[in-house]
Amino acid sequence: MPKPIYVLNGPNLNLLGQREPEVYGHATLDDVRERVAARAGKHGFSIEFHQSNKEGELVDRIQEARSKASGVIINAGAYTHTSVAILDALLAADVPCVEVHLSNIFQREEFRHHSYISSACFGVICGFGVKSYELAVEALAERLEANKS
Ligand code: DQA
Repeated sequence: MPKPIYVLNGPNLNLLGQREPEVYGHATLDDVRERVAARAGKHGFSIEFHQSNKEGELVDRIQEARSKASGVIINAGAYTHTSVAILDALLAADVPCVEVHLSNIFQREEFRHHSYISSACFGVICGFGVKSYELAVEALAERLEANKS
């Protein structure tokens, strides 16, 4: 069995389904977890799914991923636009990372257009709601498969 894919979610994503549904949709974080687990399973991967409102906890999880994960999918929420600590953790992670967002951050307020973490990720997917996560699984599984050979 390959190591799991770590799927990390930042602040306020625990409120998914209740929080600004016109922006983030009606799916809950549990729905996201189920859909991501199913999609990863099709590629032979399990997932470790976490959400935290605390920056340091996300950093801890990324550090853990260095040795325990095949790769990382991260929606850092608002920390995307502020966190050098999460950037540094991802740069040190030494496993392939994908950044995801439910909403199209480029269609929104200007402060959301910049991501501190994109430069540590091999791809960024945004604007497709829960499907952003599923597309990230596809991209990451393909990358991990290619890295094997
Ligand atoms: C988000 C976009 C961020 O700008 C915002 O702070 C979030 C969610 C998204 O998934 O669309 O919390 O990462």
